[in-house]
Amino acid sequence: MTGQVITVAQQKGGSGKTTMAVNLGLGFHQMGKSVAFVDLDPQGSLGRWFMTRADTAPDKIENMEFATSSAWGISYEVRKLSDSYDIVIVDTPPKADSDLRPALRVADLVVVPVAVSHVDLWATEGVLDLAQRENRDTLLVMNRTRAGTRLGAEVAQAAEQMQARIAKSGLANRVVYAESLGLGLGAAEMPRGPARDELSSLTAEVAEVLANG
Ligand SMILES: Nc1ncnc2c1ncn2[C@@H]1O[C@H](COP(=O)(O)OP(=O)(O)O)[C@@H](O)[C@H]1O
Ligand SMILES: [Mg+2]
Repeated sequence: MTGQVITVAQQKGGSGKTTMAVNLGLGFHQMGKSVAFVDLDPQGSLGRWFMTRADTAPDKIENMEFATSSAWGISYEVRKLSDSYDIVIVDTPPKADSDLRPALRVADLVVVPVAVSHVDLWATEGVLDLAQRENRDTLLVMNRTRAGTRLGAEVAQAAEQMQARIAKSGLANRVVYAESLGLGLGAAEMPRGPARDELSSLTAEVAEVLANG
């Protein structure tokens, strides 16, 4: 078996990489896929999340795996994991330099979260540029969107001019994303999760891009 690899990357810290890695991974898991998470960020938020989850209940990590890796060890780690897992999700530190390249190179798809601000959008150019040099497919996903704001509309418009592929689905600004992460959960696992619909449409869209390029 050869699993598919999604690398979540964005130079800007706090744009939602870890949030997106967690919730996309759980989205695929919900679809019945086995999922491995790899944390490349020395801050280790993804690992903290996974360990918290593992402590909650053992069945919460059924068909899941977690690993850390160094920047240069990623291709070996990913090759190993993709032998046994359908989906490998790689979370990365906030940078867009040569250290990031191996993580982009192994990706079937690079997901780039853009928290709705111009600063975030400017920061995407670095990652898009590197991904292009590695000939990788990229997908921008708007994060922390607020319906009906002028900033949101402006950023969406500016993103379109970057000639990057932009996901139709995005994640709204919701406290539940922060709350769930701290509990070792995904936002869709919270009671009355208002994020459920946006997460299932995002996962479906990413699955579609993975399947059809
Ligand atoms: N859609 C969202 N709505 C509300 N808070 C969010 C959302 N996405 C991320 N956050 C919060 O923003 C902060 C940074 O997100 P995180 O995923 O850790 O970013 P990164 O990994 O890019 O540094 C966290 O506190 C997280 O809970
Ligand atoms: Mg992070």
